Amino acid sequence: MSSPTPSTASPAELRHWHEVAHAPTAGTVLGQRDVLQDGSATMLTWPVPEGDGAAPSTETAVFRYLLLRSGSDVKAYVNRCAHFGVPLAARQELLKFQPHVRLTCNVHYAHYRWSDGLCTAGDCEGESLLAIPLTIDTDGTIRIAP
Ligand code: FES
Repeated sequence: MSSPTPSTASPAELRHWHEVAHAPTAGTVLGQRDVLQDGSATMLTWPVPEGDGAAPSTETAVFRYLLLRSGSDVKAYVNRCAHFGVPLAARQELLKFQPHVRLTCNVHYAHYRWSDGLCTAGDCEGESLLAIPLTIDTDGTIRIAP
């Protein structure tokens, strides 16, 4: 029996960021640390939207991720709730988070720990956001680690 394709896999069947549909390859630049405020959680997509820079709709075929900055450290997670596999929020201004502490899904309010993406309360307690391994260049460029 073949394994499910990324587009049909349920949230519980996905264990790694690279199994998610439209995931970029290792080495891809995800952002610049210095443009992220300390304590910020930023919703981004890859590839970067063209044109007016407006965020793509939730139906658009892109890879959605979150960058979380704490001091010189940056964490990246796939923006995909472990409960229903949807983004934690439809738009940046709707994203709920407590800086350096946690993210909260906007749908059923699952809480995810900032430091490792573990769901600590909610319908998917014990599961996790899919972490994306990073390297940060000396100039602050954030890349997916090999
Ligand atoms: S979809 Fe996120 S908590 Fe239900």
